[in-house]
Amino acid sequence: MPPPVLVPAPTGPLTIARGSDPAVKLSLVIPTFNESKNVGTLIGQLHGLLQGPLEGKYELIVVDDDSPDRTWEVALKCAEADPRVRVIRRQGERGLSTAVIRGWQAARGEVLAVMDADLQHPPEVNVGLWAEMARGADLAAGSRHVEGGGVSNWSLLRRMLSRGAQLLGLLILPGVLSRVSDPMSGYFMVRRSALDGVTLDPLGYKILIEVLGRGHIKWVSEVGYVFRERVEGESKVTGKLYIEYLLHLLKLRRDTLWRSSFFRFCVVGTTGVAVDMGLLYLLSDPRSLGLGLTRSKILAAEAAIIWNFLLNDAWTFGERSAKAPGVRAKLRRFLGFNAICTAGLALNVGLLNLLFNLGHVNRYLANAVAILAVTGWNYWLNRQLNWAPVRSEE
Ligand code: GDD
Ligand code: MN
Repeated sequence: MPPPVLVPAPTGPLTIARGSDPAVKLSLVIPTFNESKNVGTLIGQLHGLLQGPLEGKYELIVVDDDSPDRTWEVALKCAEADPRVRVIRRQGERGLSTAVIRGWQAARGEVLAVMDADLQHPPEVNVGLWAEMARGADLAAGSRHVEGGGVSNWSLLRRMLSRGAQLLGLLILPGVLSRVSDPMSGYFMVRRSALDGVTLDPLGYKILIEVLGRGHIKWVSEVGYVFRERVEGESKVTGKLYIEYLLHLLKLRRDTLWRSSFFRFCVVGTTGVAVDMGLLYLLSDPRSLGLGLTRSKILAAEAAIIWNFLLNDAWTFGERSAKAPGVRAKLRRFLGFNAICTAGLALNVGLLNLLFNLGHVNRYLANAVAILAVTGWNYWLNRQLNWAPVRSEE
């Protein structure tokens, strides 16, 4: 048998091709930098664990960034023993997240996965993750923060940094970070089709938030694991990675703003103001129908509520409405929306009077504050009550 050769490192845009090789169910990428003492042990354990559940239809792709300790050579030795091990030695591009994606670009399996090489991710958790993917999940993530999860004796500082990073993420990207209990995890599997047509553009270490932010991920599953102590080598995490993580969050926020339901809710609300104003003119202006102001306002406001409901039901919360089809369900959502927005109107008038009459705030500033407060009220209540999240499993 010819000696194994290095797989050429894919280049160009970070997109994942369609289609997979039926002979490969799972492609597990193992990014390495100075892991020569760990990668051979891990690969041996993975063969023992994956052979059964996957009937041997898997591949392990080591993506090494030209490690000074020549990790890629150790991996090539493993490839000699078993051709299901494939090795990429990158000599230009660097970085954990792009290493993972380049590995996925060279992958042939329908399910793509990633885990650390340093034995801090218990290899046996792959079996649980694979079981979730076999049940139909789009993404199955290892988590330290669910039952069966945890970290070995991390310092208080490391725990605070990890949790702090998570809270920051929940502030900037709530719709993404809230989908998993451990968005910092680098141990997960994702269905190739969930990345179809997506160009990834990560920064730093956190590949999971990149996939959740840009992928078509509906069904998310989690499997608990205990993040172990590293035995050989050392962590490559530096302060720079925390800056990169923040920049990554902001970049994802900018690129996915149009997908955020709150952004869409505000866009719809703005069009609703135009409908309200237009109808108020049409109904009450002396140059038009000249009806009474209050009657015109009530009709205009109700028309705007109906307009906003139809757009929010179809676009803002379209994915959730689709899970509760039918006229009765739609009518129930409309009545709920109407009630919340009418209550919001009363809150708007009350807040405006409070700020203007008691707080002596300029009327237009007071009105703007009242509108902003009521927009938050309307969005949050409608999202939680009318378009309540259906369990993420199909
Ligand atoms: N190819 C490549 N290039 N691999 C890298 C690079 C890089 O620049 N930097 C790190 N790695 C590899 C390491 O060799 C290891 O296999 C894995 O990525 C994790 O690196 P560590 O340096 O061990 O990170 P950690 O132990 O602090 O783990 C943190 O990051 C992991 C990756 O996101 C934790 O947040 C883990 O939950 C997370 O999985
Ligand atoms: Mn590690």
